[in-house]
Formats: sequence, structure tokens, C-alpha cells
Amino acid sequence: MTIKVTPSGQACGATVTGIDLSRPLSDAAIAEIRSAWLEHHVLSFPDQTLTDDDLERYTLYFGPFGEDPFIAPLPERKHIIAVQRGANETAPLFAENWHTDWSFQEHPPAGTCLYGITIPPMGGDTLYANQHAALDAMPADLRTRIDGLQAIHSAQNAYAPDGTYGDADKAKGRSMDIRPSSKAEATQLHPIIRDHPETGRKGLFSCIGYIAGIEGMAQEEALPLLMELYQWQTRDEFVYRHNWEPNMLVMWDNRSVLHRATGGYEGHDRILHRTTIGAYRQAR
Ligand code: SIN
Repeated sequence: MTIKVTPSGQACGATVTGIDLSRPLSDAAIAEIRSAWLEHHVLSFPDQTLTDDDLERYTLYFGPFGEDPFIAPLPERKHIIAVQRGANETAPLFAENWHTDWSFQEHPPAGTCLYGITIPPMGGDTLYANQHAALDAMPADLRTRIDGLQAIHSAQNAYAPDGTYGDADKAKGRSMDIRPSSKAEATQLHPIIRDHPETGRKGLFSCIGYIAGIEGMAQEEALPLLMELYQWQTRDEFVYRHNWEPNMLVMWDNRSVLHRATGGYEGHDRILHRTTIGAYRQAR
């Protein structure tokens, strides 16, 4: 089998064929996939029939498992969560705001793998915004204003007891097992512009979804700046729209893209299994 990588023609993303992920992969195949992942930031692998064991084995080719806080894993699967929504569910969509997975951690995950099991016939696309392209094209004035700043990341707005997925959300009948906690109030600094740890390419890291302020800047100044930045980061020209199929695996690079879920599949179930790839450590 020969691995074929076909770019999406959009701001990022490529489709990979000519490989069967249900079988153990050779070092050469893993290196080829890693290189395509670093280049295109989002890879999709259609027509893959994977068990949860296969999904875990594949994830571990690219790093250790990341830590998934606030969402209970599947029973007997410490490292897999179900991203799901029932046909008649009315709770707000999960992950509908632009974000980078768990950017509030000290060592946020390098990547995320998401495997489509039940995919609705329409809607439910995932959007990805290329944050290297967004920085490269950024007007000099905005870039000067964010250069050298440290963002204060926090999961508070989402996962604290009074957050979007907090105690009040339980009453809305959400099928995902989200566990809000006061631990979401913790904060973590990361530079707004940072080097990708593997490629060294500069990019914008995360966005106002998980950023609560800017170190050393009053909120009256920081919040408008973060909003202006967000408008820039998520412009259409930086976005790749991913259209799902059942039995498709997608892996994305959290250091290079923002992502968000979309709706439009009312009356249909949607179920995907997700793992996170832990932070890249040079010594590994
Ligand atoms: C996620 O952010 O992990 C979910 C994306 C999606 O449901 O499309």
C-alpha cells in the first residue's frame, strides 16, 4: 500500500488514503503520517473500520495520552470520551465555540483524534482555523499589539459549576457525561504568539474561548483586544470545513489550529470517539 496525501485545497487539511489503521503501522508509515500532519495540521482518513483498541493504539504512535478533564471517559476506557448528541437532544451544541483543546493546561495536548461512528446525513461539520496562516497574514498593527503578551487561560467559562457546561446544563438533558468542577477556575499562562514545538513555525495559540485575560493588562483593555484578535483568527480565509463520513478518523494539531463543532443535524444521532495526544516532549 502506498500512502497518498491529498490536500483539501482550503486553508489546511488533507485526506490520507492507502493505509489501514486497524493494523499496526511501521515506523516509516508513522513518520510519513506525522510529517503530513505537521504540514497540513488536520488529516482525515476515510474508510477505516476501527475498534476502540485500534483508536488507542493509533493515538499512542504520536505521543502519550493527554489528560481529559471535565468529561467522563467511556466505561473501562480511561482515554476515550464519546462526543455525542442524540437525535432529539435540545441542550446547546457541545464545542460550538472556537477553541484549542485544553489550552488551559500547563502542557496542553499536541493533538486530538476523533473517530466518526454515527454520522448524520447532513450538518455536523467540524471547522478548523489555521493559526499559522492567521499570524502570517495579520496586519502589522495588531501583531505589534499582541507581540510578547502572555494570555491567561482558564476553563472557568466552560466547566466551572456556573459555566456553560456547569450545574444548570445538567437539567438540559445533555447525553455527554460532562463533570463541571471548581478546578476549572485554575489559570495558566501561555504566550499568544508561540513557536510550534515540533516545526518551530510561529502561530497564534488558542483564543478567547479559553482565554480569560492578558497578563498585566486591565480587563477593559484586554477583552476588546482578545475579541479583535478572535475576529481575525477565525476569518473565513483561514478556515477548513471538514465534512464527516462514518468510519472516518480525523487527527488535528492543537498547536496549529482552532476548531469548533457545527449543528444542522436535528433529528439525527451523532457519535464520535475521541482521544487526545499528550504534549510533545523533545526527549521522547
Ligand atoms: C470537539 O471539539 O472535540 C468536537 C468537535 C465536533 O464535535 O465536531
